[in-house]
Amino acid sequence: MEKAVNDQINKELYSAYLYLSMSAWCESQNLVGAAKWLRQQAKEEVAHGMKFFEFLNDREGRVTLGAIDKPAADFASPREIFEQALAHERKVTESIHKLYALATGENDIASLPLLQWFVSEQIEEEKNAGQIVERLKRAGSEGAALLLLDHELGERTPESE
Ligand code: FEO
Repeated sequence: MEKAVNDQINKELYSAYLYLSMSAWCESQNLVGAAKWLRQQAKEEVAHGMKFFEFLNDREGRVTLGAIDKPAADFASPREIFEQALAHERKVTESIHKLYALATGENDIASLPLLQWFVSEQIEEEKNAGQIVERLKRAGSEGAALLLLDHELGERTPESE
């Protein structure tokens, strides 16, 4: 379980790195709303990593940090970004479900509340990315619709995460 939680810390921090890279790309395309949304998502991912970090420490586990993979730097379009974000979140969901199954198999009752929180959080994460993908599909290459969506993404606040 300790190794699996350490791996999950790495995955959450990689998620932050990936979203930061996506944010930087959006910034370079003057998509300031999407850039802000993705930057906040990156912060949320660091907070996820820290939840597992603190959880291991609290349970007298040993946190060991590994190298974080290099994320992609170039993307074809905002739609590609959010499609990749959705695919990434689905992988994270799978990983959380495996952790949950591991904890259940080891009768590690104390881990379950935290893991349950993550199970619910992943439903939100997939829903948010999925909705943005759908709206981007609908907007197509229509500039006005894309600008409106970018503006809305920029209204994301930390409280609404
Ligand atoms: Fe921490 Fe987006 O999963």
